[in-house]
Amino acid sequence: MTDPLVSAALKAREHAHAPYSNFKVGAALEDGAGIIHTGCNVENATYGLAVCAERVAVLKAVSEGARGFTRIAVAADTEMLTPPCGACRQILWEFCGDIEIVLVNLGGKSETLRLSSLFPRPFDGSFIEP
Ligand code: THU
Repeated sequence: MTDPLVSAALKAREHAHAPYSNFKVGAALEDGAGIIHTGCNVENATYGLAVCAERVAVLKAVSEGARGFTRIAVAADTEMLTPPCGACRQILWEFCGDIEIVLVNLGGKSETLRLSSLFPRPFDGSFIEP
C-alpha cells in the first residue's frame, strides 16, 4: 500500500503553478496530530518570487496552528530524487527540527532520510542572545 503521505505529495504536485520552469513539485507534511498539510511550488512572472512546495506546506500548516511535525514527503519528476533547496532546509529546521524526509518520483522510486544529513550544522534560535 502506498504511504498516504507520498500519495498526498504526488497529488499536491498536480496543483503546481510552474509555467516558467515547468518543474512541478509537491510536498506533504504530517503534523503531531497525524494531519497532512500539502503544498506545491508557486512561481511568478517575477521569477525570484517563486516559492517552493516545501515552504508552502510548512507555512500553510504553521499558519493554521499545526505543530509537532514528524515527516515530510517531496515529489518531483526526476530520476535523481529532488531534495529540498537550501532555503527550505533552513525553514524546515526552524519548524520541524530533524524531521524525516521522504523523497519520491513519479516512477515510485523513494528514499527516506533525516534533515540533519542534508543540513548538518544549522543556524537556529539557540545562537541568538535573548
Ligand atoms: N522547487 C521546489 O518547489 N522544491 C524543491 O525542492 C526544489 C525546487 C521549485 C522552485 C521552482 O518553482 C522550481 O522548483 C524550479 O526550481
